[in-house]
Amino acid sequence: MIESRIKELIEIINKASYEYYVLDHPTITDQEYDDYYKELLSLEEKYPEFKKEDSPTNRVGGEVLDQFTKVTHKVPMLSFDDIFNEDEIVAFDERIRKTISNPTYTVEPKMDGLSGSLIYQKGVLVQAATRGDGITGENITNNVRTIKSVPLHLKKDIDIEVRGEIYMSKASFEKANIEREKKKEPLFANPRNAAAGSVRQLDSKITASRNLDFMAYFLPNPEDYGIKTQSESLEFLRELGFVTNHKLNTVAHNAKEVIAVIDEFSQKRESLPYEIDGVVLKVNSLADEEKLGFTSRVPRWGIAYKFPAVEVLTTLKEIKFTVGRTGKITPNAIFSPVHVAGSLVSKATLHNEDYCNDKDVRIGDVVSIRKAGDVIPEVVEVKLERRKENTTPFQMITECPMCGSTLIKKDAHHFCPNTHCPARNIEGLIHFVSRDAMYIDGFGERIIEDFYNMGYLKTFVDFYFLKNHKEELMELEGFGSKSISNLLESIEESKKNPLDRLLFAIGIRYVGKKTAKILAEYYQTMENFLQTTYEELVAIDNIGEMIAKSIIEYIHDEKNLKLISELKALGLTMEYHGTNIISNEIFQDKTFVLTGTLEQMTREEASAEIEKRGGKVTGSVTKKTSVVLVGKDPGSKYEKAKTLGITIWNESEFLEQL
Ligand code: IVH
Repeated sequence: MIESRIKELIEIINKASYEYYVLDHPTITDQEYDDYYKELLSLEEKYPEFKKEDSPTNRVGGEVLDQFTKVTHKVPMLSFDDIFNEDEIVAFDERIRKTISNPTYTVEPKMDGLSGSLIYQKGVLVQAATRGDGITGENITNNVRTIKSVPLHLKKDIDIEVRGEIYMSKASFEKANIEREKKKEPLFANPRNAAAGSVRQLDSKITASRNLDFMAYFLPNPEDYGIKTQSESLEFLRELGFVTNHKLNTVAHNAKEVIAVIDEFSQKRESLPYEIDGVVLKVNSLADEEKLGFTSRVPRWGIAYKFPAVEVLTTLKEIKFTVGRTGKITPNAIFSPVHVAGSLVSKATLHNEDYCNDKDVRIGDVVSIRKAGDVIPEVVEVKLERRKENTTPFQMITECPMCGSTLIKKDAHHFCPNTHCPARNIEGLIHFVSRDAMYIDGFGERIIEDFYNMGYLKTFVDFYFLKNHKEELMELEGFGSKSISNLLESIEESKKNPLDRLLFAIGIRYVGKKTAKILAEYYQTMENFLQTTYEELVAIDNIGEMIAKSIIEYIHDEKNLKLISELKALGLTMEYHGTNIISNEIFQDKTFVLTGTLEQMTREEASAEIEKRGGKVTGSVTKKTSVVLVGKDPGSKYEKAKTLGITIWNESEFLEQL
């Protein structure tokens, strides 16, 4: 039987891969492996109807995609708040102890890659996705299948979602950069960028060639498998066939123990075969995690401690000035590439004129560069004692390096006042399509620059008119009809984005992602927002005078109003969709039962709030009920919920979750 031989070969080869890549303990020779592989390959070629989803031949990559499809995460993919010192660990522990009397924590190395979600059905890998914005990620299944340490078939034939870090080992990173140097391609700055770039390849053969790895560390639905602690989750993941950090993951009982583990990890850090950028702390008991819950953004039951910034010395070769989307001019130090905290860095910010003068930075100086996590590297110190003779003091430029306009100075910064300055416009367009803004997929910085220079894009409104140039765009080198169609589809899709994304995207000075959300929540529609006043704005929590002034300036500028009304005419949503990430996570797909009398709202209103957040309200308590909301004088449903051990909320807990 051909089919059963194919199945058998798949099993043999997947087991051999597991032993080799996960256990580091091979039981068959390379020759035997190759023979089995060749046999499978030839059978699959002859009998493609028997090719299976978990076949190891899928690992080499093959299909070239036009673009990644989007995937909505069933449970949002969140991250933890970052902390940077021991005091903050003590504070975290104290905060936890306010709710949990004797907490234990898992202390895990913080892998420096990108998080991924893998979905298995009946034990077979069927989907892999990036985190994206936490709600929606990209479907990278073909690429993840090429990662040797990702099991294509679990040891148990179960349905499960597994999360972990996709990363590149230090060795693979070095190798990839040697290859790139040979091909005169730009080098990867660090293993994290290399992993992110490799996993977002439309051609999975390229991903396969990059030798990525996967470390599993999280189950979004541990209760489905009877798991009660994070340690058990990690153990379960290992039993399923994943690589976990079982030799390093530790359990600690208080801040002192946590700090001791961190010390140990920071000493081991250099000698590990992969980059870690800190330590992740999680409350071990899942029941405790549930008690702690979430803030409006992040889980309260965990935190990410980041190792301190690292500094290195280098020689300043040049000072280059760049123009941001607000016209702000930034002097940047340019130097030969140096490794700082796992990154290859060749540029660091010098912030502004005062910063350069205070430090008396000069070309030819030996300077120290600091880099911490995702933060832009900066020049922290000039080694004055090592200064050579005949150096020239820093001189701020007076004209825009892009358009030649005379710069103006506002507070500490210089600005190009020309609203038509190409550099400003291009940066603004790049910002408009970026992930946290309108998230229009398929636009690299280069494409935007090219389209701008060719005259297709002048303002962000022009994105929505690109469809009128479809034929011309298809003529351009590097664009096929499919990629242009996908791009245009992405642009159309972005019209549905909620108001908060749009308010962030249009680039009002000082209106970052968080402020945009606050504004969208408050005003609900663009129309309301445009009618606001300075007084109304400063009365909103977290909106200060500077932001308010900038908003008023923006909405009183005829040019801006015209752009917004054009967007409206094009059919952009311009409304706030409500429901934020956390409410989704708490209510989404959960079943609620209400009993007793609520004081702050009617049962109907409470049901509507639950349903608005993706939850369901039913009449009777069963094992499947997620939460029972208990008001005054509850009925028998309350007793039943207690017997079945179902989560019970009183009204004030419910209001807090809302
Ligand atoms: S748990 C709710 N465990 O660091 C967050 N994350 O903020 C669940 N990371 O974006 C994630 N190593 O990509 C977890 N052992 C580990 C991790 C880890 C690295 C990343 C993850 C997340 C960030 C934590």
